[in-house]
Amino acid sequence: MELQGKRIALGVTGGVAAYKAAELVRLLLKQGATVQVAMTDAATHFVTPVTFQALSGQPVFTDQWDARIGNNMAHIDLSREADALLVAPASADFLAKVAHGLADDLLSTLVLARDCPLLVAPAMNRQMWENPATRRNVATLRADGVAVLGPGCGDQACGETGLGRMLEPEEIVAELIAHFQPKPLKGRRLLLTAGPTFEAIDPVRGITNLSTGKMGYAIARAAHEAGAEVTLVSGPVALPCPYGVTRIDVTSALQMRDAVLAQTAGSDVFVAVAAVADYRPAAPAEQKIKKDGGTPPAIELTLNPDILAEVAALPHPPLCVGFAAESQKLDEYAEKKRRAKKIPLIVGNLIQNGFGGDDNTLVLFDDDGRHPLPPASKIDLARRLVAHIATLLEKN
Ligand code: PMT
Repeated sequence: MELQGKRIALGVTGGVAAYKAAELVRLLLKQGATVQVAMTDAATHFVTPVTFQALSGQPVFTDQWDARIGNNMAHIDLSREADALLVAPASADFLAKVAHGLADDLLSTLVLARDCPLLVAPAMNRQMWENPATRRNVATLRADGVAVLGPGCGDQACGETGLGRMLEPEEIVAELIAHFQPKPLKGRRLLLTAGPTFEAIDPVRGITNLSTGKMGYAIARAAHEAGAEVTLVSGPVALPCPYGVTRIDVTSALQMRDAVLAQTAGSDVFVAVAAVADYRPAAPAEQKIKKDGGTPPAIELTLNPDILAEVAALPHPPLCVGFAAESQKLDEYAEKKRRAKKIPLIVGNLIQNGFGGDDNTLVLFDDDGRHPLPPASKIDLARRLVAHIATLLEKN
């Protein structure tokens, strides 16, 4: 329930993507928000107000002259009561109106009269999005402080492919949640590793571990919410990349190291969350190893590079943050790793039920001592960790 108590005014304009706004209402309610829908006349040609009324449990406004509002000022009342005004889908025509301050219907008047933040999720044909007039209008909106969410790239209702798809409802909700988070990492670049590595024995087998990537992906999301530009170097996991994060996929520790070292210049922070295999087969077989019934083959292992220690030893390293997953003696082992890798902060991770859960128990260790965090979901812990990292960056 990450939008608990938030009042969202949702504007729906005319476009095929209006049908996705119905799902958006459902997801917003699921996160604890109350949703008040206002539609343009064009939007009502795609989805009826009844759909939104049934989903939101609130009357839907389509007309500036709605007799249900005593003072006849729906545009003032709706915006005064909202914590944010979200327009999804936002058509090219509607963006043009807002960019020029036009107010000729309820929704555009509501936008002009608002005293809350405005977020828009554009949806249009790719040529309309690329049209210089739309580019100018979007630039004006951004300069005016409007948050432009997307658009995404892909198949379009018109049969073409390109930029202009409305973001998926889940992505819009994630961006709205991000909107309400503090921004202590604004202007910073954060690089992180997540997930396991996979070290090949032969073309079909390898050594890996049970890291799911959940902790690292939560930190990537929390850092994006906090305003950072985030690059995530990820081992093989089954998670979608958090919206707004750049992901580089790797498989082995050597690939992870190369990808990290290529990204460290210009990074303010490096967070090593990945469970990197300490060893890899020294000479992976080129062909599948066959079982011949004789002595099982011995696999000779060789040491993998320590990515975190290498980054920390660079002449001008980013602020380096390590993780230490331990099943016992958390303080002792975590501090030992912090000193060995010469890093300012390590996150002690008490592993009670193996990797992969949605909740975690973390203790932060830095020069000021130990800072236990209350057991919580990985995203809550990630936000606390990001806030701690921001404080250390400020001190530096
Ligand atoms: O992905 P999940 O299922 O959510 O699980 C998350 C996690 C348990 C994997 C994660 O929270 C975690 O604790 N990761 C670190 C695991 C660990 O203890 O790694 P380590 O002791 O091998 O390494 C210590 C630190 O050095 C880590 O920051 C690691 O990323 C880094 N390291 C280690 C070896 C290596 N060759 N290169 C590294 O950069």
